[in-house]
Amino acid sequence: MEINKTLENLRINYQSAALDIHDCDQDPLLQFDKWLKEALLSECDEPNAFILSTVRDQQPRARVILLKGIHQNKFIFYTNYNSAKGVELEDNAKVAMTFMWLPLQRQVRIEGTVTKVSEELSDDYFQKRPRGSQLGAIASPQSQIVPNREALEKMFSEIENKFKNIEILPRPTHWGGYAVAPTLIEFWQGRNNRMHDRICYVKNGKDWELQRLAP
Ligand SMILES: Cc1cc2nc3c(=O)[nH]c(=O)nc-3n(C[C@H](O)[C@H](O)[C@H](O)COP(=O)(O)O)c2cc1C
Repeated sequence: MEINKTLENLRINYQSAALDIHDCDQDPLLQFDKWLKEALLSECDEPNAFILSTVRDQQPRARVILLKGIHQNKFIFYTNYNSAKGVELEDNAKVAMTFMWLPLQRQVRIEGTVTKVSEELSDDYFQKRPRGSQLGAIASPQSQIVPNREALEKMFSEIENKFKNIEILPRPTHWGGYAVAPTLIEFWQGRNNRMHDRICYVKNGKDWELQRLAP
């Protein structure tokens, strides 16, 4: 295919920064906090977006999700508990998260296990969302097959109508947060000649062990 030539020749040499094991915080959550803050200050679009990978019947499945908090050393995101990923997580709570901050030539990979967050935390965040997003979360049977766009619009306007005189919308029980307790966090900094820096934190009991990995 024509595009293959272009793909083969696409090549960026990364050389904007370095990452040494001695510069890394002993606590990977603090290291993550530092990099996320730098991503927020950079020109990254949606710096809190990450790829969430789950596994269904040994088949990996992945999609983009937004990180919405870090509480008690766990990464928090919100979704529909009845969605495809929700069903997958019921069966297998192990996940991978991948952040990509290209303007900084950085990637962070996280592996861990999810649990549902408390009802209070989900309620609290649901109430902070714009009304349109709240209505969408109530109306949309996420991951279900729908006949067409009109059917979706109808679902939304029915919910909009139903709640038109209600100021504070109740969080639907099918929508809420998950918290990822990490067991591995790897920080990747692009370097010259593909000799990138990879510093990996692996959880050992309560401690984190740091390792440098070959690129
Ligand atoms: C930038 C971006 C952010 C997204 N954030 C979320 C999110 O925070 N929660 C969510 O449920 N879906 C989010 N999505 C949609 C998901 O990628 C996905 O389509 C949806 O959750 C259904 O996935 P599933 O069928 O595998 O459960 C986002 C998509 C994009 C492109």
